[in-house]
Amino acid sequence: MGTYLFSNYSKKPFEIMSAKGSYVVDNLGKKYLDLTSGIGVCNLGYRNPKLENALIEQSDLIWHMPNLYVSSLQEEVAQKLSYKQKYLAFFCNSGTEANEAAIKLVRKYTGKTEIITFNNSFHGRTYASMTATGQSSIHDGFGPLLEGFTYMTYNDTKYMEAITSDTAAVMLELVQGEGGVVPADYKWIQNLSKVCKDNGVLLVIDEVQTGIGRTGSTFAFEQYDIEPDIYTVAKGLANGIPAGAMLGKKELGSAFTPGIHGSTFGGNKLAMAVANQVLDILENTSILDQVKEKSNFIFEELKNLDSPKISQIRGLGFMIGIELKKGCLVEKILSDLEGKGILALRAGQNTLRLLPPLTVSQKELEEGLSSLKEVLE
Ligand SMILES: Cc1ncc(COP(=O)(O)O)c(C=O)c1O
Repeated sequence: MGTYLFSNYSKKPFEIMSAKGSYVVDNLGKKYLDLTSGIGVCNLGYRNPKLENALIEQSDLIWHMPNLYVSSLQEEVAQKLSYKQKYLAFFCNSGTEANEAAIKLVRKYTGKTEIITFNNSFHGRTYASMTATGQSSIHDGFGPLLEGFTYMTYNDTKYMEAITSDTAAVMLELVQGEGGVVPADYKWIQNLSKVCKDNGVLLVIDEVQTGIGRTGSTFAFEQYDIEPDIYTVAKGLANGIPAGAMLGKKELGSAFTPGIHGSTFGGNKLAMAVANQVLDILENTSILDQVKEKSNFIFEELKNLDSPKISQIRGLGFMIGIELKKGCLVEKILSDLEGKGILALRAGQNTLRLLPPLTVSQKELEEGLSSLKEVLE
């Protein structure tokens, strides 16, 4: 049978038909432990009853209303996302859109155009966020890109003097996800944040992958003791119902007046009903403490692996990267894991990436690690 789809994704030949908790089942009935959470999306696992109920109850009331009417659900979610109640929210449907909104807010508020991002970053596929992405393989063939972007080296203090009062913003991930699971150095971030403040430059943190509990805190910036001017979230926000948000300090609000930016589906009622419960669970359960504990366990186990195939282990919370040595191809490891009923991901050039659901049990983790050991040792 031919396909009616563009071939812009390289797809596995099997189809995932159903899921529960940390497991998914394919069309042949094979069960996999999903250590990808659908690429950092289904952070609270599959078919979480509280989220399912929220979706069903909302779908019995109303699915969609345009942003022409007040929305108490949007207000609730915005308040929960607003770190220390200092930020305003704009809702959209994806990470790239959240970053587009951030870039537009930066330029509108500052009146400046120069934005600094980082090599190997990933911020999305639409024009502004693709331009912000510091990877030439993602730019190739799509020029001319947006003007005004320059790229610095991540975790390198040498280039700080590039940030001047002419710079509108510096934008970055605190753990580069797609770029290879590379956490930012704490001191470097402290320094970067100070240089931005001293020069009146906005600091934009892309929390699309790191946010919503993925690194063991609601937002990764909490662990770096900084308060960004703007941060963006998506992926885990509504656990698989498309949703994104851009949060900006209240003082930036004057730049986003009626008609200045918008989205038909942004803040959709089904997405907001689920996001409200996701944030409620993160706030009112011990799930984030458990992620920290389990993450320590995983990194300890990985460090004890006696493997000739590993060159470095990196990460934060439940963003785990195992960089493989040159002769050991990540695609081969991924297919070996698949054979053993484990789904994992690739990141960067040759890094095996694990993004387990935050709800994964100790027993499931041990099952995953034991297969990983067999494949890597
Ligand atoms: C850090 C980061 N920003 C932005 C995006 C883009 O998000 P989306 O695919 O929802 O547009 C991603 C996706 O992987 C991401 O990891």
